[in-house]
Amino acid sequence: MRLIATTKCEPGMILAKALYTETGSVLLAKDVELTGSLLKRIKQLGIDTLYIRDKATEDIIIGDPISDETRRVVLHAIYDSFTTLVRSDKKWKARLSPTHVNSFRQAFEGILQDLKTNKNAINLLTNICTYDHYIYAHSMNVAVYSTALGIQQGLNDKELVELGMGAMLHDIGKMLIPSEILHKEDRLTEEEYEVIKRHTEYGFEMLRAQEGISLLSAHCAFQHHEKIDGTGYPRQLKGEEIHKYARLMAVGDVFDALTTHRVYRKAMLPHEAMEILYGGAGKHFESSFVEGFGKTIAIYPIGITVTLNTGETGVVVDYNRHLSSRPIVRIIKNPDGTDVEELYEIDLSKALTAFIVNCESII
Ligand SMILES: [Fe+2]
Repeated sequence: MRLIATTKCEPGMILAKALYTETGSVLLAKDVELTGSLLKRIKQLGIDTLYIRDKATEDIIIGDPISDETRRVVLHAIYDSFTTLVRSDKKWKARLSPTHVNSFRQAFEGILQDLKTNKNAINLLTNICTYDHYIYAHSMNVAVYSTALGIQQGLNDKELVELGMGAMLHDIGKMLIPSEILHKEDRLTEEEYEVIKRHTEYGFEMLRAQEGISLLSAHCAFQHHEKIDGTGYPRQLKGEEIHKYARLMAVGDVFDALTTHRVYRKAMLPHEAMEILYGGAGKHFESSFVEGFGKTIAIYPIGITVTLNTGETGVVVDYNRHLSSRPIVRIIKNPDGTDVEELYEIDLSKALTAFIVNCESII
């Protein structure tokens, strides 16, 4: 399968990976033939890229870091509890029911188990239709990224639960922000931005008194927008004044925001988002966490088309666990642009003089 821009998809192409709704059910199953009207709808939903079947990469299967079932359970837990809170008129005094806390716990166990079983670098987590419901998928993605980084950093299970639960619930305070501000398409005014910033405090107030949720998870909501140089919010904390979980989480939070299509900008590719994270290392983010995150995710997602310095064009077909910036590329075109007679692969972790110079824009 191959990852291509939705704008380059044509009717007749076959979908190689399912698309999901914001609650985790399948919107379009894999193996569906794309039609003109389906493609139009997919574009309307803000989905920039699709995995499609392709002869040269037919045998490539892209493993998801979490199973379809885990995804469904996690999204359902988030969706169900968040929407219940919105309907409550108790503002930040609203609490999750024990059933909701339990379902979060179960959902998180699923993520943890899947990540521990699946030792591969995390490929893109974006095939969810979330144009208007970004918060649900975002909460799940940040939990997956944070937990994977926590595992990479050697956290124990108790710590991973605190971190992961905090990550799933970090933006819960946004449910108290008026929708017209939260979903505003134009630039926010200064006052509106101040209102949005309050989601950190609202979230903390909700979670700190929440039975079954660790106070440290509540601090993830409180501190995830703090930056280590003290320029974040709400309290301008610096360095280790910010709890480790919030410092870990901040990396996955920003990465997910950058690699997701937003109303005001298109999604970045992982290697572009990593550049931004590296740029903020030591200022906004803890350098060792950015470094660790780069080892956790697939910087060049499987299925993406790349050009090498040799002039050859190929498709990324596998990654090297500890060197995800140097994946394995299956060459499909010669330097002169003609198709190769026989496909062959270059492992960039071994062919040290070869490197990626260009990533086909899939947006
Ligand atoms: Fe946030």
